[in-house]
Amino acid sequence: MDSLLDFSGKVALITGAASGFGALLAKGLHERGAKLVLGDINIAGLEEASAAYGDDAVLLRIDVSKEEDCQALVQAAADKFGRLDIAVNNAGVGHEMLATHEQTGDIFDRQYEVNLKSVMLGMKHQIPNMLKDGGAILNVSSMAGIGGAPKLGPYAAVKHGVIGLTKTAAVEYAAKNVRVNAICPFFSPTNIGAGMLKEDGVEDMLVRGCPMRRYGTVQEMVNAMMLILSPGNSYMTGQAIAVDGAVSAI
Ligand SMILES: NC(=O)c1ccc[n+]([C@@H]2O[C@H](COP(=O)([O-])OP(=O)(O)OC[C@H]3O[C@@H](n4cnc5c(N)ncnc54)[C@H](O)[C@@H]3O)[C@@H](O)[C@H]2O)c1
Repeated sequence: MDSLLDFSGKVALITGAASGFGALLAKGLHERGAKLVLGDINIAGLEEASAAYGDDAVLLRIDVSKEEDCQALVQAAADKFGRLDIAVNNAGVGHEMLATHEQTGDIFDRQYEVNLKSVMLGMKHQIPNMLKDGGAILNVSSMAGIGGAPKLGPYAAVKHGVIGLTKTAAVEYAAKNVRVNAICPFFSPTNIGAGMLKEDGVEDMLVRGCPMRRYGTVQEMVNAMMLILSPGNSYMTGQAIAVDGAVSAI
């Protein structure tokens, strides 16, 4: 195996690992030697997606908006494997597409709890376990974290916030060799965006708006995640990396 993608001996924690990016990333890291600590609010889905890992994985039902659950997932890594090398704060939820004048406080509050506060709480408990040997954290933001996202104002607001948390932690822990990056995927067909595709004209807008004239596959996003997390990628930290078929280059 190319040493750039060799995760042997690494322990990787992933939130939102029952489906989409999280589930495929777990598979990719496991194939490359990592042990897994996986959390999701959908425990039945997580157990189904993770059936093949056997003793190489610990699975927990967690709600990432709850501090005790974020802490419990980290504790599970310590109890089962005695270390934590990688943490991917990936769990997230979307919301109904509504223009700004139609938005509600409840939608915003849920976005804040699940998509932003979770990242702060996650890193709070993950980082102390990485201070001795270093580590890599990847926070899943979005292209909606870099620019405006029509009818997704609350989602865009909190995904911008994820980048703020990422850059701040990267600076704080760089000298301890804890790398902290964010990934900003353009649209990719997972459960979270399924509702968007049902909206009139949205799929056409996404494809036409992308210089590659297509959206990315889930595997392409996960490949980029593994490259960012690679132990060989040891000088990249504090970045918000767009994986977007050149959308952000326009
Ligand atoms: N798919 C895209 O187009 C896209 C683009 C940019 C960013 N993202 C981001 O990627 C991340 C992963 O999403 P996905 O596309 O794989 O969608 P997905 O819906 O397939 O996966 C999200 C996972 O998070 C879990 N989850 C939701 N709320 C949770 C909670 N409170 N606690 C624990 N787990 C919870 C879900 O059960 C699910 O397994 C999200 O943060 C999302 O915002 C997705």
